Amino acid sequence: MDCRHVQFCVQNEPNDSCYRDINLHQLQELFKVTAFWAQNRCLDDLQIAIANSKPVVTAWDGDRLIGCARATSDGIYRATIWDVVIHPDYQGAGLGRKLVETVLMHPHVNRVERIYLMTTNQQKFYERIGFEVNSSTTMVLFNQPVSQEGLPVAAEVTAEVAAEMTQP
Ligand SMILES: CC(C)(COP(=O)(O)OP(=O)(O)OC[C@H]1O[C@@H](n2cnc3c(N)ncnc32)[C@H](O)[C@@H]1OP(=O)(O)O)[C@@H](O)C(=O)NCCC(=O)NCCS
Repeated sequence: MDCRHVQFCVQNEPNDSCYRDINLHQLQELFKVTAFWAQNRCLDDLQIAIANSKPVVTAWDGDRLIGCARATSDGIYRATIWDVVIHPDYQGAGLGRKLVETVLMHPHVNRVERIYLMTTNQQKFYERIGFEVNSSTTMVLFNQPVSQEGLPVAAEVTAEVAAEMTQP
């Protein structure tokens, strides 16, 4: 398949020559056909995930969203890549590789010492890009969704901790 017309965009960078707003409905649909782990994601939560990720890279055939990948990163020590998807109609043409490489080249990721994946899915694909199996990062906390009511906000927590620290 000739995919030379497919455009790659970096979200949240209005100065990017190929800036586009992600249509969350399209993203939700893309996940429905590509990502078994993201079947039940609602639009509000997707918006939060996109807003808190950098970079978010998307692939477009005209106005059709056909690929997405995102990372979270501290900019220097650790980053993690999430939710790499290419629509089945476009798989096997090198677009997934380009999506991940665009994430890796982004200034928020390209100096980072270690870039993690939290998946064993499609391991061969990631190996082709240079990732290696890493057995030392195996722990996870399955944090239960909790009601936000009654939870202290970050500023209050900081104030409490500061008060404790200044007590004799
Ligand atoms: C995984 C995925 C993103 C790959 O996208 P793609 O566009 O089909 O991959 P590419 O064509 O860019 O492949 C890049 C390389 O990986 C190889 N590759 C891709 N999928 C592979 C697989 N399942 N097994 C072995 N090799 C694979 C390709 O042969 C290619 O190798 P080359 O560069 O040496 O020629 C796509 O299949 C997808 O969206 N799958 C569903 C979602 C998913 O599982 N995402 C990954 C987990 S987060």
